[in-house]
Amino acid sequence: MTHGLASLPTPSLNSALLAAEYWLRPARFLDRCEQLGDRFVVRMLGLPPLVGVTAPVDVRAVFTGDQTALHLGEGLKKMAPHELVLGSTSIIVKDDAAHLQDRRMLTPYFGAAALMSYEAGMARKTRELMHTWPLDEPVAFQRLMMQLTLEIIIATVFGVTEPERARRVREAVLRLVGVVGGPGFLAFSMLAVARGGRWNSSHRRLRAAMAAVDGLAQEELAARRAAADLERPDVLAALLRVQGEHGDAAMSDLAICDLLRTLLIAGYETTASSLAWIVERATRHPHVLAQLEASVARGEDEYVDAVVAEGMRVRSVAPFTLRLVVKPFELEGLRLEPGMMIAPFIALVHRRPDVYPDPHVFRPERFLGTKPGMYTWIPFGGGVRRCLGGPFALLEMRVVLRTILQELRFLPTREADEPLGRRNVTIVPGKGAIVTLGRRLRAAA
Ligand code: HEM
Repeated sequence: MTHGLASLPTPSLNSALLAAEYWLRPARFLDRCEQLGDRFVVRMLGLPPLVGVTAPVDVRAVFTGDQTALHLGEGLKKMAPHELVLGSTSIIVKDDAAHLQDRRMLTPYFGAAALMSYEAGMARKTRELMHTWPLDEPVAFQRLMMQLTLEIIIATVFGVTEPERARRVREAVLRLVGVVGGPGFLAFSMLAVARGGRWNSSHRRLRAAMAAVDGLAQEELAARRAAADLERPDVLAALLRVQGEHGDAAMSDLAICDLLRTLLIAGYETTASSLAWIVERATRHPHVLAQLEASVARGEDEYVDAVVAEGMRVRSVAPFTLRLVVKPFELEGLRLEPGMMIAPFIALVHRRPDVYPDPHVFRPERFLGTKPGMYTWIPFGGGVRRCLGGPFALLEMRVVLRTILQELRFLPTREADEPLGRRNVTIVPGKGAIVTLGRRLRAAA
């Protein structure tokens, strides 16, 4: 028998307060939803009903079901500023054939062979920056990681080598991310969602910050074309080659700018925040730190990868992902009508005691000798919309942690767990992931 939404539990808070809680008190919001079980419906001011699912069988149905009925791009337009910030030609706001075309074109640059070519650069950037970090005093690790992942993404995506232009790109991207991650833009986003997804495009500071990044991208494009310099191993060179093979119609300069902004914004802060959470968790578990140091000293990656997987499980920077239902869609026993949204709740899937015994305990050993489950470990979403940069981010986190631990160590702390903070749509350590770094102990050498 098939039921409608009336059969589902819903939080006992009115839609305006629930929306405020979602944005401003994400931990409370998630706890409230967790109590409602496998399926629930969330009604937030300005949004269509959002059906939250946490059971792996439902997650699988959403990720592998008919994607012409479930649209990420259209869903994001209602719920998040992606189209405004990343542009209307960005892969993330497209659906169906247009999305698949971009996906096919981009996938090789984030596949295994491409990743190998990025690894040495990731380690080099980590070493360069970590030699400037303060030791033996508390420091906000989130900030250090934002600087580092920005350098890595500028090098691999933009491939800017000319130092003066690299400096200007860095400044321009920082300004853009500063606007998007700031409290003013959070308030603007809350209002836009509450008004039914009306993202007023006249946000002056945002426009200026985007134009500065695009201007530098255009400059780099012109310089590469002038030098006929299309064989470099970065994503920009690859996009130029695509343009060259298929003519300007294949990918306009505007589309290249949207794509570069997408990769920069989607790829850098998410990875920095994940790294910050992972280290925030590890420094509260001295035995994990000891194991990490020992395994890095042995030249092994398995434990590092397990710490990354467990950190991303217990602290997911994206609390949920979503799809807008555009054709009737059925989950086992539940009919969803066009206009509704369905959201695999990443953070709550990761808290299921039937999948993860003692789900709130940080225990990387869970992931030793076993691969994270496709529908039970979903920090990168899933199906045909699974994060394009997932393998890139996992490699980057492994390389960054490994490289740091080859020379330095994280000191354990007895400080309380950091609260969940918010930077627009992502969840970040509420105090910036305060850690103390020191020189590595000889014993671990
Ligand atoms: C730890 C870091 C990251 C996390 C947690 C993360 C998370 C996500 C999530 C949850 C989605 C939506 C997936 C879905 O709905 O099924 C997504 C999509 C996406 N991510 Fe990431 N991401 C990360 C890093 C990156 C990196 C490094 C890049 C690129 C350089 C990137 C580029 C993208 C793109 C282009 C999409 C849209 C894919 C599509 O629409 O087909 N992300 N990411």
